[in-house]
Amino acid sequence: MQILTFDTYEQLSTHAATELVDLVAQKPNAVLCLATGDTPRLTYNKVVEMAQTRQVDFSQCAVVALDEWAGIPPDNNGSCHAFLHEYLFNPLKINASQICLFDALTTDPAAECARVNTWVTDHDGIDLMVVGIGVNGHIGFNEPGIAWGNDAHLADLAPITRTVGQKYFATEVPIEKGFTVGLRQVAAARRLLLLANGPKKAEIIRLTAEGEIGAEVPSTILRQHPNSALLIDSAAASLLNA
Ligand code: GLP
Repeated sequence: MQILTFDTYEQLSTHAATELVDLVAQKPNAVLCLATGDTPRLTYNKVVEMAQTRQVDFSQCAVVALDEWAGIPPDNNGSCHAFLHEYLFNPLKINASQICLFDALTTDPAAECARVNTWVTDHDGIDLMVVGIGVNGHIGFNEPGIAWGNDAHLADLAPITRTVGQKYFATEVPIEKGFTVGLRQVAAARRLLLLANGPKKAEIIRLTAEGEIGAEVPSTILRQHPNSALLIDSAAASLLNA
């Protein structure tokens, strides 16, 4: 695991966006797995800017969402569906046929997860995965204690995730479960970037980089990945020893 520390969130975002745009410039049909949340927002704004200035065509790439809040309709602005359309799919003109999003309203979660797993397999796996981190070390909705061999599944959200997650919604919503790509798929991504900024993430970044590797801190899976990078700003890096 590389650790790349930047003075500012903006520099971190520029680095992540450059890596993403460089990949699509070299491989127009790249397969991306992308997180939502506050952390990657600026990265995605910069991806759109760079794609325009560098004339990089995203219309051939394929994107699978990292996760989704179960039961939240796609037109709710707090859904991952709405976020990815607003920040990436619409401005980059990514065709609906190349997008794989969890159907949060499905009545058959097992079939929905199987559909996403098949999509990933049929696309020969993920070239680049961009993830954030929960304050408890979750990646997507892979909460502490989850098996590292899992593929996409419907997860019970940890209490802290339910509480923190309300920040994405204009009015309070019941969020108890979430669909997520599994840690086996995270581990299999050919390039894995974890982005974190700000002092609230400093302690979990310390545990991710320097704590015991294991299921209690899912983000420690990055340390077993052959091509992963932790992209952090100086505030998120502030508790690291090294
Ligand atoms: C959320 C999402 C994750 C996200 C993480 C951090 O609950 N399930 O995919 O990466 O928590 O979110 P933020 O970037 O808003 O801090």
